[in-house]
Amino acid sequence: MKWPSRGGDAAQQWRQRDAAVVSAAYSRYSDLVVESAEGAHLHTADGRDVLDFGSGIAVVNLGHRHPAVTAAVHAQLDRVWHASVTALSPPAITAAEALVRVAPDGLDQAFLCNSGAEAVEAALKLARRATGRSDVLAFRGAFHGRTYGALTLTASKAKYHAGMGPMLPGVHHVAYPYCLRECPPDGQGRCGVAEGDEIERLLATVVAPQDVAAIVVEPVLGEGGYVVPPAVFLPALRRICDAHGMLLIVDEVQSGFARTGRMFAVDHSGVRPDIMCVAKAMGNGLPIGAMVARGEVMRAWQPGEHGSTFGGNAVACAAAVAVVETMERERTWERAATLGAKVMKRVRSWQDRFPSLADVRGLGLMIGLEFLHPDRSPDAEVVEAVRAAALRRDLLLLACGTDENVIRLVPPLTIPDDELETGLRRIEESLAEVAG
Ligand SMILES: Cc1ncc(COP(=O)(O)O)c(C=O)c1O
Repeated sequence: MKWPSRGGDAAQQWRQRDAAVVSAAYSRYSDLVVESAEGAHLHTADGRDVLDFGSGIAVVNLGHRHPAVTAAVHAQLDRVWHASVTALSPPAITAAEALVRVAPDGLDQAFLCNSGAEAVEAALKLARRATGRSDVLAFRGAFHGRTYGALTLTASKAKYHAGMGPMLPGVHHVAYPYCLRECPPDGQGRCGVAEGDEIERLLATVVAPQDVAAIVVEPVLGEGGYVVPPAVFLPALRRICDAHGMLLIVDEVQSGFARTGRMFAVDHSGVRPDIMCVAKAMGNGLPIGAMVARGEVMRAWQPGEHGSTFGGNAVACAAAVAVVETMERERTWERAATLGAKVMKRVRSWQDRFPSLADVRGLGLMIGLEFLHPDRSPDAEVVEAVRAAALRRDLLLLACGTDENVIRLVPPLTIPDDELETGLRRIEESLAEVAG
């Protein structure tokens, strides 16, 4: 897409330098050249002040350069940056303690790493090791990362796999309960997709349950379209896992850290997973991730059986501790719930005026706006046009969904009310310009 650039020599020069040396694999949601950022604001090389409704893809949940996180990072920089497996590291121990404190009950040991994909790889390896089984179930529409194990689980866009096979053997995909598209109720109001019927059929016909190590699931589909499953879904997965001795792995990389109105999205369900993967907002912008597991499961690994040079980096861990402590102190999830309810109400009120806005859904401040043509086919063009119109108004919006026909609203959870309001007004104006 051609973005509405405001010109400016400095920004233009950065774009040229980027095109020359940075891999084109990194496609961008805009051509903004960001030189500094604070709260929900991006300041660009050509002097723009852009409202950030993407949070660096659900990373800066506390806003860019949150003062408590900044202070913790500065303090750690003056002590020690890196120890890796040469020694024990107090910031890593403290980060693991903080994570275990806020994780769902029973998840009491953490493996610290650097990204979401690494957390998912760790979960896959641990699940195989702990169960002695090879196969894994995942969902169409899911995104779990780009490394081979995580990529094999990923099924949100075929282009992520194109020309890069073969993938990991033993991974089976079933439908995610994406109500708008996948779940026609069977007449009694029962949704077979959400109740796990397809999984049971798969286990009866394709893969024997005793060969399945785990089910891997996003409690809210992220890249796949910000899809919130029916409440019966996660309990159904728990039931299936318990019946067959499989592990339930929740991928909270995008939905975690107060985003959905609880610390983790799985907390809404009361379901206790066996393993949880986190990253993104854990460091509020510093690279850190973790795989958290029940101690009994984690103890399947013996010393040296998994590891990472940078996992548990002291500076990233200091940021993570500050993130958890700030969220506990400020009860950030409550603000996410309050703002989320406000945004949902407001955006739903637009649906009469903009019929292509077919679905507005979300949990907390993780909200998806899905656009369809009158024949109910996905309308990616309107999403691109709205994003461009919003960017002209200095509002950065991200898309998602298998067909790129969903706008995801994922602003910092700390955004002040008036800035949220400004952003919503810019979306409304953009919709009126493009889809009115
Ligand atoms: C749910 C989910 N899992 C895993 C990942 C991969 O995380 P990373 O890009 O840090 O490897 C992502 C990234 O978008 C994600 O949304």
